[in-house]
Amino acid sequence: MRKLKVDKAYINGQWIAGADTFDVVDPATGSVVEKVANLRIAEVHSAIEAAHTAWSSFKASDVMQRAALLETWYRLILEHKQELAEIITLESGKPLTESLGEVDYGASFVLWFAEESKRSYGETIPGPRASNKILTIKQGIGVVAAITPWNFPLAMVTRKVAPAIAAGCTVVLRPASQTPLTALALAVLAERAGWPVGVLNVVTGKDSSGMGHELSTNPLIRKLSFTGSTSVGKILMKQAADNVKKISLELGGNAPFIVFEDADIEAAVEGAIYAKFRNSGQTCVAVNRFLVQDSIFDQFSQQLTDAVNRLKVGHGMDGDVQIGPLINQNGLDKVQEHVTDAVGKGARILTGGKVIEGLFYAPTVLADVSADTLIAKEETFGPVVSLFRFKTEEEAIQMANNTEFGLASYFYSNDVHRCWRVAEALEAGIVGVNEGRISFAGAPFGGIKESGVGREGSRYGLDEYMELKYINFGRGK
Ligand code: SIN
Repeated sequence: MRKLKVDKAYINGQWIAGADTFDVVDPATGSVVEKVANLRIAEVHSAIEAAHTAWSSFKASDVMQRAALLETWYRLILEHKQELAEIITLESGKPLTESLGEVDYGASFVLWFAEESKRSYGETIPGPRASNKILTIKQGIGVVAAITPWNFPLAMVTRKVAPAIAAGCTVVLRPASQTPLTALALAVLAERAGWPVGVLNVVTGKDSSGMGHELSTNPLIRKLSFTGSTSVGKILMKQAADNVKKISLELGGNAPFIVFEDADIEAAVEGAIYAKFRNSGQTCVAVNRFLVQDSIFDQFSQQLTDAVNRLKVGHGMDGDVQIGPLINQNGLDKVQEHVTDAVGKGARILTGGKVIEGLFYAPTVLADVSADTLIAKEETFGPVVSLFRFKTEEEAIQMANNTEFGLASYFYSNDVHRCWRVAEALEAGIVGVNEGRISFAGAPFGGIKESGVGREGSRYGLDEYMELKYINFGRGK
C-alpha cells in the first residue's frame, strides 16, 4: 500500500514525478523534509482535462454514492490522525497538539458535507398561471480549482474539496508550495477510499503565479476557490473575470478584539490567547488589534502579558509546545518590521519583541500602540499582541471598523444590550461575542469588504459549488 508521505503529484489517478523537484522545508530547523514534483503548466493543463473528463460521469453519480466516498475519506483521515498531524507539523512548523486538532477540524468538514450533500434541496414556487409549475434544482457547477494556503495544510483542503465532491464536482487542487505533503497524503487516502479516477487531482509546484493563472483562466474550470492573501486574491479575481467563473475568496483580515469595562477579564484573556496565538498568530482570523477600554487597560494588559509569558515556544514535535516558528523568512521580516514600526511610534514592549533564533519570534505584547502604525493597518501574521486604548463604545466601533478588511471580529462584554448593538455594528463576516473560538464546520466562514467573497462550511458552503436552475413546467398548450 502506498505510504502517506509521497513526493509525487496526482493526476488522473496517476502519481506524477515531474521534470524536477522543489524542497519542502521544516521551518523549525531549516532542513529539507522532502523533494516534491515541480510540475509545469502543461501538466496542470492535463490535470484540468482529466478533471473535466471525470466530471462527465461523476456529475451523474448518486448523492448517496458521493456521501459514501466522503464518509470513507473521513474515516481514513481519522484513522491516520497521528501520521497526518506529524506531516502537518513537519512542513508547517505548527505545534503537534494543534496539528492533531487540525486533523479533527479538517475531518469535520468532510463529515459535514457528506451529510449535507443529501440536503441540497430545491423548492417549488407558485407559477404565474395555474398551468405552470415552477421549481428549482441545484446542480454541481463542474470542474473546481482549489488553491489552498500553508497555514492550515489539511483543513483548508477539506473545506473546499469536501463540498465540491458532495456537489458532484471534480477538483484540481493546488496546495501551497510550502505544504504540499499534507494535501498529497489526503489524495493517497482519497485513492484508498475508492474515489473515481480524475475526481481529485493534486498539482504541486513552485510556480504559484503561473499555476494560479492557468487555474483562474482555463475555461474548463467553472469555479475557483482560493484562500490566501488579499493581493493574490485580487489578481485571481481579475483573471477569473475573463470567463466569468464563480469564485470564493477567503482573504486577509485585520481582526479587532474589543474588551469592554464590563467584560469578564479572565474569560477575555483566555479567548485572546486562543484567538491571537493559534498557529503562532498565522491565521486569517487572528486578532490583529486589541482595543481595550481605558478603565481596565492596565488590568487586562497585565493579565494578558502574564498568560503570554506562560506560552511555551519550541519545535512543534516537542510535546507541550504551544508556539512554533514562523513559516519563512518573509513572515519573520514582516513581524519584525511591524514591531519596530510600532515601537518607533511610541508603543511599549511589555514582553517579547525579539527573535529567539531561526524563524522563532518571542510571543510579544505591545501597549499603547498608535493608529498610524503598520500593525493597525496590515495583518501581522505572527505572535504579536498590539493593545490600543479607547474610551467609549462608539469610539471602539469606529476603531474596529476603520479597516478595509472584514473577516473576523471579537468582543467581550457582559451587557446583553451592548452585545446586540456591537455585534450588529461590527463590519465583519464573523463576530465572536465572548468567544475566541469561532471556526466550526456548521458555521458560514467568510469575510466582507476586502476579506473576500463567498462562505465556506455550513449549508452555504455547499451552495458555493452548485448552480441554481429554475425550471418552468408548462402544460404544453
Ligand atoms: C484561515 O486562517 O485561513 C482559516 C482559519 C480557520 O479556519 O479557523
